[in-house]
Amino acid sequence: MRRVGGTELGYRMLPSVWGLGYATEGAQALVHHAFTELGVDRIVATTMTVNTASRRVMEKAGLSLIRTFFEQWPEPVEGAEHGDMEYVVTRETWARQHDHE
Ligand SMILES: CC(C)(COP(=O)(O)OP(=O)(O)OC[C@H]1O[C@@H](n2cnc3c(N)ncnc32)[C@H](O)[C@@H]1OP(=O)(O)O)[C@@H](O)C(=O)NCCC(=O)NCCS
Repeated sequence: MRRVGGTELGYRMLPSVWGLGYATEGAQALVHHAFTELGVDRIVATTMTVNTASRRVMEKAGLSLIRTFFEQWPEPVEGAEHGDMEYVVTRETWARQHDHE
């Protein structure tokens, strides 16, 4: 399969459908597609530390926390003082997670 390097995962749902599992389902489908169809090697995602829902979506899509970082935002939003988190999964790790399926 052709290798295309890494890519970034991101999502935004309409507030009217929050909490229904759609972000999790969509993120899992995108990760599956990236690794099985696009030949991606590594997927990265970032979110604010205080964004518990987004962090759960990343974890349930198979990504793991690798670092917390702090950026200087020109107009910081509430919670920015807790920083941002970066999550990653490689194709090898994802494949191991799905070995049993
Ligand atoms: C973050 C976002 C994508 C989550 O979408 P969603 O469809 O509501 O997510 P899901 O229903 O798949 O839920 C994912 C997990 O977060 C949890 N969750 C949902 N809303 C939550 C909240 N307000 N606080 C804490 N946890 C929450 C769910 O319980 C679930 O975890 P669980 O399986 O352990 O129970 C959505 O809230 C959103 O679009 N927010 C605005 C934009 C944004 O923050 N985008 C991400 C930027 S990195």
